Amino acid sequence: MAVLSAGRGWPRTRASASDGLAAIAASRGLLYGAAAKSSSLVASPELASAYARECGMLVPEVGLKWQALRPDRDTFDFSDPDWLLRFAADHGLRFRGHTLIWYKALPAWVEREITPGNAESLLRQHFTTVIGHYRGRMHSWDVVNEGLDAHSDRSDGLRRSIWLENLGPEYIALAFHVAHEIDPAAMLVYNENEMDDDRPPSDRKRGMVLDLLGRLRSAGVPVAALGVQAHLRAGQAPFAATKVRDFLRQISGLGLKIIVSELDVSDRDAAGPMAERDQAVAAVYGDYLSAALDERGVVAVVTWGLSDQDSWLNSRLPRDSNRRVRPLPLDDTTRRKPAWHAIAAAFAAAPVR
Ligand code: XIL
Repeated sequence: MAVLSAGRGWPRTRASASDGLAAIAASRGLLYGAAAKSSSLVASPELASAYARECGMLVPEVGLKWQALRPDRDTFDFSDPDWLLRFAADHGLRFRGHTLIWYKALPAWVEREITPGNAESLLRQHFTTVIGHYRGRMHSWDVVNEGLDAHSDRSDGLRRSIWLENLGPEYIALAFHVAHEIDPAAMLVYNENEMDDDRPPSDRKRGMVLDLLGRLRSAGVPVAALGVQAHLRAGQAPFAATKVRDFLRQISGLGLKIIVSELDVSDRDAAGPMAERDQAVAAVYGDYLSAALDERGVVAVVTWGLSDQDSWLNSRLPRDSNRRVRPLPLDDTTRRKPAWHAIAAAFAAAPVR
């Protein structure tokens, strides 16, 4: 409840939003946003100001996942996403929902209680309450996240999950139909990871995604966009620029929009002192965005956090010797880094959509 009581007491931003990433993106018809946790914004007025200054859209990083929302079967805890929605509305930012169906971040009670007999009503009840709560206010919803597995033993590539197990392979179509009934105005997104590399698993994943989305489109399923997570790494084999371009063109050809939905660039494998690592990270941002933004179907870019101080990579891919990771546009005191300048330059150079 502490987060809710923050109410409208947040500081107004003093820095101007007119030169922030969102304003630069908007000049090309693009939307820029970042994932956020209400607890981080409450703890740091500087960080809250930075979100207001840089972003045109917020995405709750954890607050809309089942584990956060549904501590038990009868409770829906909207405190984190509601705080963020109010912050977004007060600062003129759009709001994006992540995520309705995922194989991770599930509370133990769901895994315990779900059966083929009750799975559809569990899904319908969740969607009715959660999508209904934000009806008309969501830019887009990630309806299904990471439904495919490059190492799947199934010919359709579907990932083993409680959803597949209890609802069968039609669960993806079902989820999109139910979501569309409840909020016909939200852009419904299929979100997927690991489609960026020049290695066989990424090649397979891109093929699987094209097959799946092609089948869904032909069957009239209301999927409107692909979310491309794009968790990239500096200092490793580069992402596959040509393959990414071709892939995004093919996705567009299916009549789908594209959201770069969770962009960050890990510096874990980048060598050298901090300034060199920052340059390596910035170069990956610049190269990736200049390839992706050439595709006019890309309507939005979201980074998975805004400041290094609360990047999920601090625990997911930590650096040695307790050095903080530096994968995001702003450093841990919310100052703009080379990554920020690379993103700004890529936005400014993007074709107008
Ligand atoms: C991550 C969050 O950033 C973490 O804070 C949380 O502990 C685990 O999930 N792909 C996704 C996101 O779709 O939901 C994940 O977010 C990162 C990988």
